[in-house]
Amino acid sequence: MKKITKAVLPVAGFGTRVLPATKSIPKEMLPVVDRPALQYVVDEAVEAGIEHFIFITGRGKAAIEDYFDRAYELEDVLERKGKGQRLAALREKQVREGTMSFVRQQAAKGLGHAVWCARDIVGDEPFAVLLPDVLVQAKRSCLAQMMEAYNEVGGNIIAVDAVPEDRVSDYGVIKPKAGIDYKGQKLIAMEGMVEKPPITDAPSNLKITGRYILQPELMGLLRDQAAGAGGEIQLTDAMARLMSSQTFHAFAYDGQDYDCGSKLGYLEAVLAFAKMHPEIGDDALALIKRMGT
Ligand code: G1P
Repeated sequence: MKKITKAVLPVAGFGTRVLPATKSIPKEMLPVVDRPALQYVVDEAVEAGIEHFIFITGRGKAAIEDYFDRAYELEDVLERKGKGQRLAALREKQVREGTMSFVRQQAAKGLGHAVWCARDIVGDEPFAVLLPDVLVQAKRSCLAQMMEAYNEVGGNIIAVDAVPEDRVSDYGVIKPKAGIDYKGQKLIAMEGMVEKPPITDAPSNLKITGRYILQPELMGLLRDQAAGAGGEIQLTDAMARLMSSQTFHAFAYDGQDYDCGSKLGYLEAVLAFAKMHPEIGDDALALIKRMGT
């Protein structure tokens, strides 16, 4: 089985649900405690063995490229002022040269189109997709857990999580294989999926979380994928077509996901990561408790 070394991170979206904060800052750069939300997603992927990151960006997203570049002037100032600890923190997160690619999605045609923009760099290899709006807090990174499942069953793997029935129409939803008891299972055989179904038509309450391991044949299907839900080219629709020739498993990971694209989800992520922070965790927890009374 080919090792998965490349990950696609679509970061071209406008972030309209958290305006005006995102008017001049990419939503992926909003801080969660002491680092941009996007850094958590990159860390998750690094833990899973990803070696090359393909960012699908757009106009107004240059801050992302700058963030992952080296900041010589800043390093020089920190060094001269003897701020060794801060310099070490900065260097610890520095990515190796040549391990990131930035591709512009030239029109907002949807997630499927964004992933297709990575086709030349992905080439003929299985690859991961991580949607950076979603942060997953987990002991072992969500994508790393998926890699372990992939090594067992191969094919295509989609992270899923149960949602209340009245929320299913906000997500892609999977259809588990008929006749299997999937409750409590980690790897779930699938027979379909649908993007943002009406509540009455949802095939389950298992939402697609925003972490995928996919085979390269998907790119060919994305090329001619017709627009679907919301008038956009949907990744879910192309995956559903690929199911006629390849296996798909849903994977119920251990961990908690937060939707940083919404105000409350973002706030929840900040609180959750603050509580677990090695330096301020205990104080943050005390603070949250104080505020709750
Ligand atoms: C995207 C996917 C959807 C998935 C969701 C997870 O939707 O299309 O299948 O459930 O991310 O956050 P979006 O939130 O971009 O509309």
